[in-house]
Amino acid sequence: MSRIVYVNGEYLAEEEARISVFDRGFLFADGVYEVTSVLGGKLIDFDGHALRLERSLGELDMAPPVTKEALLEIHRELVRRNDLSEGMIYLQVTRGADADRDFAFPDPEKVPSTLVLFTQAKVISKSSAADAGIKVISIDDIRWGRRDIKTVQLLYPSMGKMMAKAAGKDDAWMVEEGAVTEGTSNNAYIVKDGTIITRHLSNEILHGITRKAVLNFASEAQMKVEERAFSIEEAQDADEAFVTSASTFVMPVVEIDDVSVGTGAPGPVAKRLREIYLEESMKAAQ
Ligand code: PDD
Repeated sequence: MSRIVYVNGEYLAEEEARISVFDRGFLFADGVYEVTSVLGGKLIDFDGHALRLERSLGELDMAPPVTKEALLEIHRELVRRNDLSEGMIYLQVTRGADADRDFAFPDPEKVPSTLVLFTQAKVISKSSAADAGIKVISIDDIRWGRRDIKTVQLLYPSMGKMMAKAAGKDDAWMVEEGAVTEGTSNNAYIVKDGTIITRHLSNEILHGITRKAVLNFASEAQMKVEERAFSIEEAQDADEAFVTSASTFVMPVVEIDDVSVGTGAPGPVAKRLREIYLEESMKAAQ
């Protein structure tokens, strides 16, 4: 059965969906996106994703294509039409299709933005990767300076995944000026002597929606949290490491650049946080 996707106000079979060759998302990566997970047919932290989308759009002077309420309805309708019980909803907004290829932004009054959403069915609550933990390599972070905006410029993160794959590992942590920024598509954490350490928020990293929720749950559970930069060496010497994202939740990291972290198996803090995250976010799902 083919998927039903959403394109600019229409629900279409995926084979029928079309975007212009002049779309600025295609020509200039002039677009932003969100990935919202779905568990039990319900959306996890929709409000957080909608708020970050609004911010990304604002930072790039793009008008929101529809209201937040309409966006929630589109998400729910896609879940219904695709009978999605578990997986993700991908959303992308671009600055639309101008009459030609032109570096200058078009007049938003004349060129409406493009809005696309589609579902991806996937079991994410249970995962063999989460049971075993993942292995990462470190790579230079050569991305642009506004990583806080969730743009669709994902070529370097894709290359990072390929570098990890070529090395026989699962993912890459990016490093700038001696400190880890984040994973290719997730936020990075270490645990030392019971303290959870993750890079502070700035333009250098994406402000993860899962990060925010996990840090709140950690504080509520009386765990100590420190938001600061850390190096690969400090991470290799930590008791535990993990990453978070909407598509992986809390994922233990058991090896960094061929060095085992802690016991070399998923640690108790990452495991506990994964449990709490799943439990609490399911309760609040809409
Ligand atoms: N990626 N950092 C980067 C660079 C990311 O691409 C992501 C998410 C995160 C985690 O953010 P959140 O917790 O809001 O998902 C951090 C998504 C899942 C993706 O590109 O598929």
